[in-house]
Amino acid sequence: MSERPYVIDEMISAKAIAARIEELSHAIKEEFRDTNKLVVVGLLRGSFVFIADLVRELDLPVEVDFLEASSYGNAMESSREVRILKDLRGQIEGRDVLVVEDIVDTGHTLKHVVGLLASRKPGRLRTIALLDKPSRRETDVAADWIGFSIPDEFVVGYGIDYAQRNRNLPFIGKVRFPEA
Ligand code: IMP
Repeated sequence: MSERPYVIDEMISAKAIAARIEELSHAIKEEFRDTNKLVVVGLLRGSFVFIADLVRELDLPVEVDFLEASSYGNAMESSREVRILKDLRGQIEGRDVLVVEDIVDTGHTLKHVVGLLASRKPGRLRTIALLDKPSRRETDVAADWIGFSIPDEFVVGYGIDYAQRNRNLPFIGKVRFPEA
């Protein structure tokens, strides 16, 4: 945990997030309306609030599974090497899969996870991210659906942490370090 004091400025309200998830759910239901074998895969830990709200908007037969990939650790900088810390419980061969990510930043995590899941021969493999920071991209990956495109700011809340804190904020806020 950083000892440096910081403040959090609201960037996206809880109400705006809920409205956007409702919109996105229509597109997802349209995409998967003919399937009864959809597995929604949340990337831990940052997507846990987003996936909870998203699946409750999907009146489709869905299963939920989770995968944990290594990311920032306790720092604010992404590591480019992605490791799988916790794998799926279920098989996805022949199943339709929707991967739910909190933020696509450099894109290394999503690219690695999509490559891994694709190798297991699923049916349709689609991706959704609540937030996208396109200016930070270092890979050619793009999510199929994005909640909000944001500038290069470090954000927290709605499941997303800074040094494991602030996941419980109901909104997305940006971290700011006031001048000493
Ligand atoms: P990427 O591999 O660089 O795309 O990083 C993706 C992961 O980094 C996300 O799933 C988050 O866990 C983390 N991350 C990226 N940007 C932020 C941020 O602004 N705040 C907190 N975590 C972030």
